Amino acid sequence: MFPIVSKRPLNEAGTVLEYVIQAPLVAKKCLPGQFIVLRLDEHGERVPLTIADYDRQAGTVTIMVQPVGQTTRMLELMEPGDALADFVGPMGKPTEMEGLKRVCVVGGGVGCAIGYPVAKGMWEHGIEVDMVAGFRSKDIVILEKEMREHTTNLYICTDDGSYGEKCFGNAKLEQLIKEGRQYDEVFIIGPLKMMKFTSLTTKPYGIKTIASLCPIMIDASGMCGGCRLTVDGETKFACVDGPEFDAHKVDWDEIIARNAFYAGEEEEGKKHICRITGGVRNG
Ligand code: FES
Repeated sequence: MFPIVSKRPLNEAGTVLEYVIQAPLVAKKCLPGQFIVLRLDEHGERVPLTIADYDRQAGTVTIMVQPVGQTTRMLELMEPGDALADFVGPMGKPTEMEGLKRVCVVGGGVGCAIGYPVAKGMWEHGIEVDMVAGFRSKDIVILEKEMREHTTNLYICTDDGSYGEKCFGNAKLEQLIKEGRQYDEVFIIGPLKMMKFTSLTTKPYGIKTIASLCPIMIDASGMCGGCRLTVDGETKFACVDGPEFDAHKVDWDEIIARNAFYAGEEEEGKKHICRITGGVRNG
């Protein structure tokens, strides 16, 4: 069993929760960009979640959860002292950092919970990191202090202008590029449409752009095909080939259509919260 050590809301609205889990073997090996798969009990669905942080000495791993799916809503009801049945990982390939000198991480909404550990990992690796964090409004801003402490520059944008600058993240990124910022790489993580448009923003400038993708995952072992996507005309599986891919080569329209199909099923599932079935990463 894997005890919950602590739990806290990450924003005023309480839409994102942080859990610290006692999982020494995962904490010993994990790296930024990797994920774990948890189950609440032996009959539960497997839910993949990005590793947000870890403490090798304490043997703990931090995850951040937006409770929107059945299992994540049940997890929302669990408290420190409760324990998860399974907490398997680390899975997926770690973020590649070699040779990078200056990077911009663009996070959208709860995607910042995934962008933050990548930004932090790069910053601790000696890379200059600008981070553009976009949110709909002030009440759902997460991790501002943490992002500020682990980046060279942090730019917060909100769609409604209630905090930071009133603009979308890709517009802020383009402004920085036009002002002369030179990036070896742009790393994007957030809603699929936001990633598609951010990828289209960097393409004309020829800036290498990496997207962290979180399509529907079922077994997270490369066997079920649930997380398949097309990259440069080839079928890939996010759980074993990713989760990070060249954003300019991803077939965004295909993955957006697939996620929209399963989103309907998930909505239906929320009406039956007592049954642990179905679900997507981060919700
Ligand atoms: Fe089944 Fe990736 S989740 S192949």
